[in-house]
Amino acid sequence: MTSRPDRADAATLRESSLAVHAGIELDSTRALRTPLVMANSYALPDDPSEISWSATGPGLYTRNSGHNQLALERKLAALDGGEEAVALASGVAALHAVFFTHVQAGDHVVVSDVVYEATWRLWTELLPRRYGIQATFVDVTDPDAVRAAMRPETRLLCVEAVANPTTKVADIAMLAGIAHEAGALLMVDSTFTPPPFYRPLADGADLVVHSLTKYINGHGDAMGGAVIGRSELIAPIKADAMVDVGGVISPFNAWLIQRGSVTLPLRLRQHFASAQRIAHMLAADPRVAFVAYPGLASHPGHDVARRQFADRGYGGMMAFAVDGDPDTQNRFVASLRLITSGFSLGHDDSLIVHTAADGPRTATYPEEFRRFGHLRLSVGLEDPDDLLADLGAALDAVGA
Ligand SMILES: Cc1ncc(COP(=O)(O)O)c(C=O)c1O
Repeated sequence: MTSRPDRADAATLRESSLAVHAGIELDSTRALRTPLVMANSYALPDDPSEISWSATGPGLYTRNSGHNQLALERKLAALDGGEEAVALASGVAALHAVFFTHVQAGDHVVVSDVVYEATWRLWTELLPRRYGIQATFVDVTDPDAVRAAMRPETRLLCVEAVANPTTKVADIAMLAGIAHEAGALLMVDSTFTPPPFYRPLADGADLVVHSLTKYINGHGDAMGGAVIGRSELIAPIKADAMVDVGGVISPFNAWLIQRGSVTLPLRLRQHFASAQRIAHMLAADPRVAFVAYPGLASHPGHDVARRQFADRGYGGMMAFAVDGDPDTQNRFVASLRLITSGFSLGHDDSLIVHTAADGPRTATYPEEFRRFGHLRLSVGLEDPDDLLADLGAALDAVGA
């Protein structure tokens, strides 16, 4: 096999070139794109008795590693600067794979007090109840609180680089220092901050998790998740959570995500530029109660974000609320013509979702989130002037 990045010397490639070339290997078809291999099984030798059914290599069975999965994994490892990647069925499958593989009964974990809903549920309900693992939730912007939460049996510190949905910014280098002093691993869910925009491994994280469903695929038509890190940490995830639990990605989804990721650096530049303009527009409008976006100087994590993301932008995600009650937030969403109410994020189309103020999850959110609820906005790739006009017209329509 000829690997195209090898030909071009992957070590010297810049980000956009890696996004185009990484992971693609020429096979006997000499196709310039990785062919879609919709097989669940591969031909074995007549006597396969020497082959382990739990092996994680290629050419056996798609739950042990599929052709398109492997191509996607090579690319994700290159983009995040990690030794190895594992691609799984969804972002949540990737999170669970880390927890299931690297945390045992009797261990303790420290988790950010703002994390994606499913991570919260895994650590408040499912894993403590099923496996007796204790979790402490902590404000990860407070180093003393994080240090105080670490115990001798703490195995994992679990954070989001920019948290869903409040956009709390975690200082990854600082947290890596605290985790390692305590003998724990740092896992960073970097779904809001994909590569090449940010690479948590370079700041000391041990494991990076992505929902590939979001920016890395970018087109809203496939689900996937990934974990990237040192081989010694990824290999057991493949053996335990992939082969033996079965959270494997489908070949078609892996193929779609690999194709979508080609334009990732280019797309991120547009998402971020539009988001910055929209955040400023909303923050300047007296009908808007608050805007949480790390690119605003008023954001508590602005300075950390500017340093950590090296002035490359502040992401495409924000949360805000219209000055009014929950009905006002709903009428605002109903008045939007271009931006659609939908759960996902990081797609080509802009998506918004209203979350009420009084859910069980919101107790650790900032005061304004608890007062007004919030609208989480994923800024898409439409013309930013059209997005600004849509938001402005919806504000006019609700008469906030
Ligand atoms: C930060 C974060 N992590 C993980 C996930 C889960 O990803 P998936 O929906 O692909 O399972 C999401 C989904 O929104 C997310 O926002």
